[in-house]
Amino acid sequence: MLDAYQRATSIEEVRLRYGGSGRIIKLASNENPLGTSPKALAAARAVESLHLYGDDACLGLKERFATRCGLAAENVVFGHGSNEIVKLVAETFLHAGDEAVVAVPSFALYRLAIAVRDARAVEIPLSDGVTDLEAMLEAVSPRTKLVFVCEPNNPTGTAVDPLAWSAFVERLPADVVLVVDQAYREYAPPESVDATVHVGSRPRTLVLRTMSKIYGLAAVRFGYGFADPETIAVMERVRLPFNVSAPALAAAAAALDDDDFVRRSIENNAAGKAQLFPALAALALDSYPTQANFYALAVPTSATRAYEDLLREGIIVRSGDALRMPERLRITIGTNDENALLLCALERLVDAWRA
Ligand SMILES: Cc1ncc(COP(=O)(O)O)c(C=O)c1O
Repeated sequence: MLDAYQRATSIEEVRLRYGGSGRIIKLASNENPLGTSPKALAAARAVESLHLYGDDACLGLKERFATRCGLAAENVVFGHGSNEIVKLVAETFLHAGDEAVVAVPSFALYRLAIAVRDARAVEIPLSDGVTDLEAMLEAVSPRTKLVFVCEPNNPTGTAVDPLAWSAFVERLPADVVLVVDQAYREYAPPESVDATVHVGSRPRTLVLRTMSKIYGLAAVRFGYGFADPETIAVMERVRLPFNVSAPALAAAAAALDDDDFVRRSIENNAAGKAQLFPALAALALDSYPTQANFYALAVPTSATRAYEDLLREGIIVRSGDALRMPERLRITIGTNDENALLLCALERLVDAWRA
């Protein structure tokens, strides 16, 4: 029996449950707290020809994404969010009885995509909260078709050591498709792993990125992937035509030019870390070092109780119970104001959690 994907609680659900008109903040889905790039918003609104199918080949836009990392349009696949590309790569390369190696905890969709293909997920626990590349390599067998690495990892925010990463890529058997999900790469420091550098040198490496996070376009659904032309070509045969809507294409094209919005988003995230982590340490609340726009906070009670208590305070976070990370919460770094509200709520709650 397949487990359904467990999504975060929405603001609408909290209003239904508790009523009232007070402020509710959502720090649960790693969305951009600054909103959407104004350029992208204007471009999506300007799309008028909704009666026409969009441009399914998207060569011009693919070229623009590709040249940013020294690649060509034939190296690019677009998806209805990078979620769709996760399912697409599983649908393309996995068959019943095959194996795929995944870290646990990591992004839950990999396991679902594997299960839908009647393949087996070989689950490798994190080591001190970090993807255990050595153990993942050891788990590769002749049945292994795919390896999923989330970098930085969701839900922990942790990143692997770049040197260990290079050794891992070199040693992974060439016939295995390596999927590197870098949904949060833009938040990580420049010296951290940038898997696009392997696309030209290691065929069967698929690097996933998204416009949902730093570009603030989660609701329009636009993700993209880079791989060698042959891998892209097989996936293109499986992809549904017109999987990305015309407003999504327009928004993505405009967002890509909005360096100012990306810069402000990175700055807000860095300021949020500086605001949060000393204050959390003062409350003796620990988290893994994060290179993303969220953190996995250890709580001195059950994750479900901590999640429920914060929900009553009007703050939506993710319970680690739903993410195979018991006794932790996954919390998105918000604006200064949102982070301050969270810290106040934690101050009020933490003694009772420890009692
Ligand atoms: C690691 C990771 N990959 C992929 C996604 C999906 O992103 P998209 O909105 O592009 O489907 C998410 C969203 O939370 C994510 O955390």
